[in-house]
Amino acid sequence: MSDTKVLIIGAGGQVGTELTLALRESYGNQNVIATDIKEAEGIFLDGIYHTLNVLDKDAILDLVKKYKITHIYHLAALLSATAEKNPMFGWELNMDGLLHVLNIAKDNGIKRMYWPSSIAAFGPTTPKTNTPQDCVMDPNTVYGISKQAGERWCEYYFAKYGLDVRSIRYPGLISYKSEPGGGTTDYAIHIFYEALKNGTYECFLSEDTGLPMLYMPDAIKATIDIMEAPAEDIKIRSSYNLAGFTFTPKELADEIRKHIPEFTITYKPDFRQGIANSWPASIDDSRARADWGWKNDYGMTEMVDDMLKNIPVMMEGR
Ligand code: SER
Repeated sequence: MSDTKVLIIGAGGQVGTELTLALRESYGNQNVIATDIKEAEGIFLDGIYHTLNVLDKDAILDLVKKYKITHIYHLAALLSATAEKNPMFGWELNMDGLLHVLNIAKDNGIKRMYWPSSIAAFGPTTPKTNTPQDCVMDPNTVYGISKQAGERWCEYYFAKYGLDVRSIRYPGLISYKSEPGGGTTDYAIHIFYEALKNGTYECFLSEDTGLPMLYMPDAIKATIDIMEAPAEDIKIRSSYNLAGFTFTPKELADEIRKHIPEFTITYKPDFRQGIANSWPASIDDSRARADWGWKNDYGMTEMVDDMLKNIPVMMEGR
């Protein structure tokens, strides 16, 4: 697919960093244009990179034209906890950003576009376990409301303009190559660093808060697979449910203790507890499995093994 030219918006984030590496691998460095509001650093020094504010639609359009972009991955957003601290900016960035990209994609012959939704699009009266693809969605966070509205907009642009936009409702994503920023599920990453550095962790969620999670290699695989699937296989144009496994902070701590027996955890729930309480505990992702062959490779045990193996290597390199 040498005619594919990819634009990644929000490439410096938790998903974007690893997705940039994977897309460079698939399409070649010269065909992947990474952008973020931050200055280039790390892996972005090895490829094409531009600083870009997604609220600047003229700047997005310039890049689309300059590089004859065919595929856009639009990842820039404020996550759940950060958006609660600044609701109006969260709404502006998440909504106006998406609408700018949808309009540019529609008007400039973009072949495929990707935009992530989230388990945050569900809400307190959504069925909590094995949450179905189609059910009540009453998000009560700014982030969740923006994801719910975004899903409707993606569906609208597909139905009305034929824009081939595809989406996944990511659960909590666990990674070590890139850091999370401002999410409610971030505890499941911080815990590893604290366990390795200090042998103890104070968790901002209560011990029995179960949330759906996914290991980053699986999230990247899912993102690439949904984008490479034939258009007729993508039967849901809002966003697909997707998950790997569910655990509570206590269960994660117990699993870490199998490797670090002296590890201790304490619990001090803060405002993020309310956010977590409004989200599903587990997800029914059978539609993704049936429609485009989704299947996770990592379970919780494999994820914990891999995190504890790789984080010390990363910490040494820093
Ligand atoms: N991981 C995200 C968050 O916690 C959910 O999409 O905000």
